[in-house]
Parts: sequence; C-alpha cells; structure tokens
Amino acid sequence: DPAAVPRFVNPLPRPSRLDLRRGGRHALRLAPAVRDLLGGGLGLRTPVWGFGPPGGAVAFPGPTLIARSGRPTTVNWLNHLPRHHLLPVDPTLHQAFSHSTHTIARDGVPAVVHLHGGHTDADSDGHPDAWYTARGVTGPRFSGSRYSYANSQEAATLWYHDHTLGLTRLNVYAGLAGFYLLRDRRERELITCHRLPDPRYERELVIQDRMFHPDGRLAYPDAPAASPAWPGGPSIRPEFFGQVLLVNGRAWPCAAVEPRQYRLRLLNGSNSRFYRLSLDGGRPVPVTLIGTDDGFLHRPLPLTEPLVLAPGERADLVADFRGCAGATFDLGNDAPTPFPDGTPVLPPADKVLRFQVTRPYDARVPEPRLPAALRPGPFRVPRPVTRTRRLLLFEGQDAYGRPKPLLGTVERGTSAWDAPVTETPRPHTAEIWEFFNTTSDTHPIHLHLVSFQVLGRAAFTADQDPAGGALSNIRTEPPEPPDGTETGPKDTVQAPPGRVTRVKAFFDRCGTYVWHCHMLEHEDHEMMRNFQVR
Ligand code: C2O
Ligand code: CU
Repeated sequence: DPAAVPRFVNPLPRPSRLDLRRGGRHALRLAPAVRDLLGGGLGLRTPVWGFGPPGGAVAFPGPTLIARSGRPTTVNWLNHLPRHHLLPVDPTLHQAFSHSTHTIARDGVPAVVHLHGGHTDADSDGHPDAWYTARGVTGPRFSGSRYSYANSQEAATLWYHDHTLGLTRLNVYAGLAGFYLLRDRRERELITCHRLPDPRYERELVIQDRMFHPDGRLAYPDAPAASPAWPGGPSIRPEFFGQVLLVNGRAWPCAAVEPRQYRLRLLNGSNSRFYRLSLDGGRPVPVTLIGTDDGFLHRPLPLTEPLVLAPGERADLVADFRGCAGATFDLGNDAPTPFPDGTPVLPPADKVLRFQVTRPYDARVPEPRLPAALRPGPFRVPRPVTRTRRLLLFEGQDAYGRPKPLLGTVERGTSAWDAPVTETPRPHTAEIWEFFNTTSDTHPIHLHLVSFQVLGRAAFTADQDPAGGALSNIRTEPPEPPDGTETGPKDTVQAPPGRVTRVKAFFDRCGTYVWHCHMLEHEDHEMMRNFQVR
C-alpha cells in the first residue's frame, strides 16, 4: 500500500547521463516503461513514461543531457507513446484544440518537448501547438521532430519537458521531464582551480509530488466537475498536490555522502506544489546559493532562510557536510498548498530527502574553496528599455463555472489562449514586463526564449472590472528590490498576490513563443499566452 511507503530507505537514484558536448545529432525516444518508484521493499511496479536513446533503456526522469555552451547540437525527439493515456484526460480544455480519450485512441498520445530556459529558435522551442503523435498526426505549429539547440548562453541548470496544449500536466506527471546541464568555460575554470565541487560531487535533484493507486499505478484526480452543464468524465482541478514526494523518480530517498562539499542542482518539477526548503539535523549545514535558473549569481550567497522553489524554478547550491561524519540531515519542506496562504504542509510531505554522512572521505579529491565572485559582475540586462508592459494575472471562470486562471493586460483585461497576440516585442529590444497579480496565490511566471533580470516588486491596489479583470486607478507602494536569491539570470519568477513583479528581458530571436504560469494545472487551463518577437 503506497500509504505505507517508508521514508528514507530508498537509495537516491542518479539519473543516467547523455553527453552532447561534442555537438552533432542525437535522438531520444519518448516511450513507456515500468519502474519501481515507491521502493521500500513494497514490490509495487508503476507504469510511467520516460526518455531513452533508440534501442536503449527508457529512463524516468529522462537522462540528464550534458551540453557545452557555444556548441550547437540537435535532438530528434521520437514520439513512441501508445494510443491511450496513463491518466484521465479532460477533453474540454482549449475548446476546439482539445485532445480526448477518443482522439488519443485514434491518433496516439500527442507530445512535444520544450527545453526550459533554452535560448532556442522558435521552430525548435516546443510550442504547445507543435505536438505530434506516434501515428504522424501533428498540431498546427508542428515543424519537425528534430530540434536544434544553439546552446548560445552561459552555464545553467536547464530542463526539458513535455509542453502539449491542454496535456502538459498529464504528460509531465507521467514522467516526460529531465535535466539539461549546460557547461561553459568559466564553470570549467572554477572547477579546475577547485573553486567549485568536482563533478563527481555534483547531484542533480528533481523534486516531484505524486499520488498512487494501491496497486502502484500513478493516480491523478479524475472527478467530474461539479456543474449541471458538465458533460461527464474527468475534469481538470485547480491544482494538483500529491502526498508522496519523489526525488529523481524515487520516493523519499536517502543519499549517502562524504563529509565534504557537494553541489546540489535542485529542480522543482512538480505540477503545482511549491517547496520551502531547509536542511536540518541538529546542527546547521552551511548551504550556499551559487546559481539561479539560468546561470551563476555574482557572489555566493550563504542561505540564512528557507529557500522557496516554485514549479519550474531551479537552484544551484553548495551544501557543506565537512565535520559532519556520522550525522543525518533532512531536507525539510514547510510550504503551504497552494502557496503562500493555503493548507499547511503535513507529514509525509514535510520532508523531501535525507543525507547520511556515512561515506569515507576521499582525500584524493581536493576540497573546493568558493570564490568571492562567480561572474565578473552582477547579472544585468544592459540594454535600454524600449517598452514597459503591464500584464494581468486574474482568476476567472470557464463555461462550466470552474475557476479558470487567466493572463491578460492591465488595460484590456484577460485574453484566452487563442485570442490575438498582444505581446509583440521588436527584435533586439529590451522590455520590462510587470505582472499585476490580482489572485490570492503566488504564480510562477515563465517566459520562453529569454533569461530575464528580476527588478523587484511593489504592493499595489486598484479598481478592477469583475468580468474581464482590467485595472484602473492603480496605486503602487514604493518598490522592493529582488531577494538575493533571485539576482542571477532567471526564466521563472514568483509573482505573489497583491504585488506587481517586474522583470527585464532582451528579445533577440524572432518568432512565436509563449509565456505562462508554470503551475501545470494553470498552464493547461488556460494561464498561457503567445508572444511574438517581430
Ligand atoms: Cu517549463 Cu513553457 O515551460
Ligand atoms: Cu498559476
């Protein structure tokens, strides 16, 4: 019984790795597999979807792809998914564009892969309408399955995941996600002069919450909507929160470590759950933040408070277990669901992972001494601002009376996914985007294509049109600077309720991309908009 999964007995799995640093052409299949996610000697087997090289094993999470900055590469993403979904499909999302159990039985499961944080051409970006199935049925923006990655950006903790319109939450939940670690020369120098932990002491950790049926199958809510007009069948929920926490595809694992410094590359790969993380074990373990979503901080930042990681966000950390031989430390989580004012977290979701300092110290590998600076100066988007956009986060309702989170502009109110594009930056210009959050939850807002600078936030009040959400008479309080933990390059920013959150980005590739909330239930219903650089 999954409810009886013991915590901290499963060894921490390390994702397989696929080296793309020589560039060239690669291929990965999206395919089903059966994995033991719960472990603990329960003997339960879970059907999942994952990624694997042609002819090779399918991994969940997908293999960690290692790429080199400045060395372009291609990946042919081969959809080998079956003709039924592992999870209950809601056919009412995005109206005419929706997928259903019926279309999937006829055409196969649609999928498309987005490299999150990638500075990618629009044709290779994995637009939500660029999906395709194993039977060759394609979405309106499909332009081939071989994607080019320029890798024209600095070292970063990127990740890849499915992005199919109206199905992202289910395809990612089933397992279609993995890391993409981009290396560059500056990082290599920091490692060779022992300023950062050796790659042997680097662990990528993806945190995902799940629920399970008693037989071990993944469970996802399938209740109908409480609406007289509902046609029947499973309905999307406002959010998904599971009680079983997986790290690298295994429930509550335990990592045996040496009494030394480790580089931990955290990814919140959950659908809607935020984590507020701290490492505790009787005595403090110094944890230092060295990087954000898309690159290094200017200076290493010793963490003095728990770190909040929203869906889609990454943190590059150094944890210092020196002098801790024999000790045990737990990565704890106390983030309410939804964040920040929802239900307090309860066991078992109050702990993520255990570190046991039980491995003998390998004195042959030198201990790093973190540098004063990881990059020449603070991360900035240096270009002059040509335009400031005032954008809206709003909780509306759909035709069935279900809550429907939406995006829009402050002036005009909300826009559906298929309404004409309103965000149209000119190529090679910088813009400030301001996210006015009029809902009661924090939403992680993600822009494709760019690495942005978080400028800060301000509390605001305004009059709001109750139907479309448009704002008038906006009064803002004095601006607050960004938190120290968001001063590196970012692609996903927490937009808290009652505040305007400001970012600055430089748009240098033409084409159609998307910006959206990264809570996958919100993105699918339909807190997502196109933007067009033109
Ligand atoms: Cu991580 Cu548009 O996605
Ligand atoms: Cu949201």
